[in-house]
Amino acid sequence: MSAEVINGKDLAHKLRAGMKEEVSQLNKNGVIPHLTVVLVGEDPASKSYVNGKRKASEETGISSQIIELPSTATEEELLQLIAKLNNDDSVHGILVQLPLPKHIREQQVIEAIDPAKDVDGFHPVNIGRMMTGKDTFLPCTPFGILTMLKSNNIPIEGSHAVIIGRSNIVGKPVGQLLLNENATVTYCHSKTKDLKQITTKADILIVAVGKANIIGKDYLKQDAVVIDVGVNRLDNGKLTGDVDFEDAKEIASYITPVPKGVGPMTITMLLKNTIKAARGLSE
Ligand code: GUN
Repeated sequence: MSAEVINGKDLAHKLRAGMKEEVSQLNKNGVIPHLTVVLVGEDPASKSYVNGKRKASEETGISSQIIELPSTATEEELLQLIAKLNNDDSVHGILVQLPLPKHIREQQVIEAIDPAKDVDGFHPVNIGRMMTGKDTFLPCTPFGILTMLKSNNIPIEGSHAVIIGRSNIVGKPVGQLLLNENATVTYCHSKTKDLKQITTKADILIVAVGKANIIGKDYLKQDAVVIDVGVNRLDNGKLTGDVDFEDAKEIASYITPVPKGVGPMTITMLLKNTIKAARGLSE
């Protein structure tokens, strides 16, 4: 039996249609949700991500603006810009695209953003809220993954979820969200011994490593749910995930493709967080 493919693009479109309605309701109450994205430097991948975010915002009726700073901008200049955006009532969400040039300390920048406008969910206040299970802005990729699992009625409670990768953006928070949903969570990373011995116990396997096609069916338990967060460009220009899709599909019960998997859901959750910010974060 071949796995059911979870099409993130289709789900994202469906959710965005509902959000468009929400935005028009807000408009009727005089609220125009607005997202400001700050891009420092010329990284082509970052530029393309940022443009994707702007396009998706516009399609949903969310007003958006990209502020570009040169790669020579100082940390002080960036912090001053953030302070200005924090004080601007017409700006509901602020996103500073990462990575930043090496001379700027990322953590200083993340912590400068008003937690009430932190639509990335990266501010320590929002991470703390997430860890304690309080309503907050959830980091977009983990939130998108959780939404994909729930939309497909995949049981999380009592399941064994294994995460490969421990980044602050994906690995760590997705494990926390699944723990909040009563999964048993195991984190694996580059220093993990006998990875296969652990991954073959996973009911839900989340792969966020950034290496093309490293996980095949020999890493999977029969009927595992496989979520592939990796986006890798091959020499032939094609995009591929961290999972060998065709191979893993033979064993998995559900699997996300790359492209059209987690990626579109990440942007959709950013839009959701921006609408939430425009409404005002509740306690
Ligand atoms: N760079 C890669 N992913 C992200 C993200 O989710 N948010 C921000 N701000 N930068 C990123």
